[in-house]
Amino acid sequence: MQTTSLIKSSPNIKGLACRDCGKFFEISLNHACDECFGALDVIYDFEKAKPSKDRIALREKNMWRYRELLPFDPVDAIYDIQAGYTPLIKAKKLGEKLGLKELYIKNDSVNPTFSFKDRPAAVGVNAAIHFGLDTVGCASTGNLASATAAYAARAGLNCLVFVPANTERTKVAQARAYGAKLIEVDGTYDDVNRLVSQAADLYNIGVVNVNLRPYYVEGSKTLAFEVAEQMNWEAPDAFIVPTASGAMFNAICRGFEELRQLNLINEEPSNPIVAQAEGCNPIVKAFKKNSDHIEVIEKPKTIALSLAIGNPGDGVYVLKRLKKKGFAEDASDDEIVEGICLLAKYEGIFTEPAGGVVIAVLKKLVDEGKIDRSDKVVCYITGNGLKTSEVISDKLESVTLIKPNLKELERVING
Ligand SMILES: Cc1ncc(COP(=O)(O)O)c(C=O)c1O
Ligand SMILES: [Zn+2]
Repeated sequence: MQTTSLIKSSPNIKGLACRDCGKFFEISLNHACDECFGALDVIYDFEKAKPSKDRIALREKNMWRYRELLPFDPVDAIYDIQAGYTPLIKAKKLGEKLGLKELYIKNDSVNPTFSFKDRPAAVGVNAAIHFGLDTVGCASTGNLASATAAYAARAGLNCLVFVPANTERTKVAQARAYGAKLIEVDGTYDDVNRLVSQAADLYNIGVVNVNLRPYYVEGSKTLAFEVAEQMNWEAPDAFIVPTASGAMFNAICRGFEELRQLNLINEEPSNPIVAQAEGCNPIVKAFKKNSDHIEVIEKPKTIALSLAIGNPGDGVYVLKRLKKKGFAEDASDDEIVEGICLLAKYEGIFTEPAGGVVIAVLKKLVDEGKIDRSDKVVCYITGNGLKTSEVISDKLESVTLIKPNLKELERVING
């Protein structure tokens, strides 16, 4: 399949820079530094970029309203399915229940494919077109597969998505419905990622979270931009991010940093928090040991399958950030289910286990005094409960089956 138009990169981009040694690269399919193997990040010219609050306010309510700080400009007819500008909800009831004055839920589970992954996939797939590739793909724990497949469908690209064989059936069906070729791998996410990294060059695939990763991660910065704008250009004091590879946490931190550099907010959040599942907690473990390096979890074991990454690609960068400020905490499977139910019962939001991890960690850190009860706290809820309903179905009150008559109904209602 051939794409018709090549997408130009934004004129605000200076190039790519190594996150470790700072070496500069021209915009290219490079994703790792040839000197030190560090990750490469897109660097902007803030003299040129300069978005204004007024100009942003006039734009369409989707992630591209922050176009000056993204690698591509929608004026260039990019391919889009309208991800972003999801609701920021003041969670009054849940806040009261947990003893917090100002709790907010960033409900990113209502994106077009029902997870935050639409944001990075949006930029990654447009980057593939920019580089003239006609096939895109990803290594996924489930949600990225659908996001990549949906954007590929929109753009008319071939799509090959790879997931571990234990991925939830709803996620697999969703990705396939968009027309992607879905390959299940008998192994962990890390096995999948290794295989896909080898396949990327061999088969000339634009793998959004491998060779297109510098662009892909940019999309998730919009999670910081939106929260700041929705809080009237203020940052929260604390925010909690469900974390697997660490890419989203890093991107959100970078988003707030860029807003501060551009004077769009006065202060960055003082308490960024990483939330992981207890059965796959390599970042939390390293944080608690005050270690600079990650010990890989070979066999993750958690109901939060979307967070089951034992060897987090951005883990060391997350640890570096946590050295300066913030916390990392984990949650057991039972706590995750409790977290899902709390958010559903108190705020009417049904999340997948990744969101349950966030609420469980919120509860723990408030109880331990690591989150101040008077702080403005934002919980990033990044995936939809409908994708994983089997996780909680058998943990809920049983369903009563009756014959269609009032006598039987009476028995149920009055016990
Ligand atoms: C719903 C959800 N939340 C959070 C994450 C973690 O994202 P990251 O790998 O960027 O840390 C994922 C990853 O797949 C996810 O699907
Ligand atoms: Zn380097």
